[in-house]
Amino acid sequence: MNAKRRPSAFMIMFSKNSHITSTFCFLIFVATLHIFAFIAMPIMYGRKEPIHGFVDPKFESVKKQFERNFMDGFERDGANVAIFYKNKPIVNLWAGNADSELEKPWTRHTRSLLFSTTKALSGLCIALLVDQGLLNYNDPVAKYWTEFGQNGKENTTVRQVLNHEAGLPYIDETISLEEAKGDAHEALRKIAAAKPAWVPGSASGYHPITYGWLIDGIVRGADPKGRSLKQFFNEEIAKPHGLDIDIGTEPDQLYRNAKYTVPTNMEYIRDIVHDPRLLGMVMMLYLQHPDAVIWKATKSPCPYLNPLASEFPFNNPEYQQLNLGSATGVSNAHDVAQLFSKVINNEILNASLVEELSRPSLNSWHIEKTVLYPIMKGHGFFYDPHPTKVDTFTFGHPGYGCQALYIDRETNLVIVYLSNGLKTATSFLCFPYYRLVTESYRVINQINQL
Ligand SMILES: *[C@@H]1O[C@H](CO)[C@@H](O)[C@H](O)[C@H]1NC(C)=O
Ligand SMILES: *[C@@H]1O[C@H](CO)[C@@H](O)[C@H](O)[C@H]1NC(C)=O
Repeated sequence: MNAKRRPSAFMIMFSKNSHITSTFCFLIFVATLHIFAFIAMPIMYGRKEPIHGFVDPKFESVKKQFERNFMDGFERDGANVAIFYKNKPIVNLWAGNADSELEKPWTRHTRSLLFSTTKALSGLCIALLVDQGLLNYNDPVAKYWTEFGQNGKENTTVRQVLNHEAGLPYIDETISLEEAKGDAHEALRKIAAAKPAWVPGSASGYHPITYGWLIDGIVRGADPKGRSLKQFFNEEIAKPHGLDIDIGTEPDQLYRNAKYTVPTNMEYIRDIVHDPRLLGMVMMLYLQHPDAVIWKATKSPCPYLNPLASEFPFNNPEYQQLNLGSATGVSNAHDVAQLFSKVINNEILNASLVEELSRPSLNSWHIEKTVLYPIMKGHGFFYDPHPTKVDTFTFGHPGYGCQALYIDRETNLVIVYLSNGLKTATSFLCFPYYRLVTESYRVINQINQL
């Protein structure tokens, strides 16, 4: 019996060979993927686009990287990047198409939806109310919005809403398009009546859509004039500072909005080869149970706003007009960058409040209820550790398809990136954006060493 079990020389040869063969096949496979990602894709998708706009001569290399994004095939349609350094505009570049189907070029006046980057604008409105002494972060929401104080939400604070701790990433009721439109009173009523999915403050889970109405309800109650978030932002921030930024597109401005396209499967594969962390991100999404918070939040309360739907919803002008402080901010990169440059240079809020905004209120390790990965949050922003200075943070907010707002108060730097050729990833996993951020730091370090 023993002799029979002993592997023959042939079997050893065979298994060795199969080991060699499989290693060889794997290497061929990896090499093919790399040829596909780094040679074939740039040939297929890459193109030389004339780059428009302004760049400070010292930052010329940022323009080169922006141009390379198109040449390497990372920009399907159009894009706009703006950088403020020490409160001065040093980059405002745009290129490509605002609408590829109509071959309409991106111009100085093109606007793009900010998607979730809008949440930073909403956070700023709350900060302005705090600055004016009309609101405290630790106050219960119900102090400003009486109807909200029911169903276990009596003690939910403004800070918890801004930290996505309110337990309302989805609600049991659906909010129809009709109810979401205009003043959205019925949407607000349903949010105020909802029962939280967890004890408010006991956990954090990203609220992709409802965050907008939560902030709207708080602003209406705290503002002595009772204005909506949209109107408050327009009259207290955009107009006085001359900024072309709205929450919800006005009907007569719809023609300026960029038209979105979504990534192809080829681009997904290219991006995963380029940065395998993306595979982890995709798996974190698709391996979650159908009852997971993230899937519930795409279905409720607004199933028609699911960005993963077979037809991307936000090309619909009806959705672009919604006054939703979580998704429908609309602007160009320059004006959003200018706004937050003013903020960190104390032109909008007082210095002690800006100091407070530059640190997260939630930075302990936790399982994030919606995206699982713990995100540092606070005041309506997301935070990252500062790239060089310990115990300091950068902040801002990513948006769907790689829209991005990046704020580094230490360096006095704001970077905003917008594009309508939606990307597979957001934040630093989105290579064409990451490349612009790292190049900006490289130039700034060089300047500071001279
Ligand atoms: C709110 O706080 C009060 C006072 O601490 C407490 O009595 C009440 O049970 C709390 N309500 C909820 C829903 O947590
Ligand atoms: C600055 O903002 C804080 C809120 O963080 C407020 O308490 C304070 O009164 C403000 N100071 C000035 C000078 O406006």
